[in-house]
Amino acid sequence: MVRAIRGVTVVDHPLVQHKLTLMRKSDTSTKSFRELLKEIGALLCYEVTRDLPVELIEIQTPLATMMSPQLVGKKLVFAAILRSGMGMLEGMLELAPAARVAHIGLYRDPATLNCVEYYFKAPLDIALRTVVVIDPMLATGNTAIAAVDRLKEAGARSIRMACLLASPEGISKFQGHHADVPIWTAAIDEALNDHGYILPGLGDAGDRMYGTK
Ligand code: URA
Repeated sequence: MVRAIRGVTVVDHPLVQHKLTLMRKSDTSTKSFRELLKEIGALLCYEVTRDLPVELIEIQTPLATMMSPQLVGKKLVFAAILRSGMGMLEGMLELAPAARVAHIGLYRDPATLNCVEYYFKAPLDIALRTVVVIDPMLATGNTAIAAVDRLKEAGARSIRMACLLASPEGISKFQGHHADVPIWTAAIDEALNDHGYILPGLGDAGDRMYGTK
């Protein structure tokens, strides 16, 4: 069943759900996991960008002139949280290849589950662009909150959050800090365990993607 939570769009498209099921399975290989993350990234990008503004321009087809829509405004910024955000980023860039990219390096201190920043690089004119934050797992919410804090500090004003899985606790904490940032996710899972992992979840997205465990 898809839970309805204000500010959250659950992308329940059958292709997304099928690929997510494959990703959850513990015997899915590193190679397949990475491919699936990229494919879901592209499908989520399609939904996250659904309401981007367009304007009509006059074009010439081989047979006639017509008014036809094109995107307006500056190119998007995809802000990938290292390292698992990189997998979804690849798929998103396939759909929006001219997008700019920000990288945000944050890791979770395993003892406190708090975020520590080790890298941040974003386009200088980020204030003029719509920013899509990419992090497959919205678990405790701490990483996403810290990433959006940092992007706002850098000037970002129009921000969206794209993830693969979210926990109810993570959504609620994130919305408590950043109520202005809508979330897209492929699923909202049951809960978090004591180590801040999503249950039933899919394990550690970075480790599964890069085969580091
Ligand atoms: N990060 C992950 O990779 N997996 C989780 O379940 C939670 C955070």
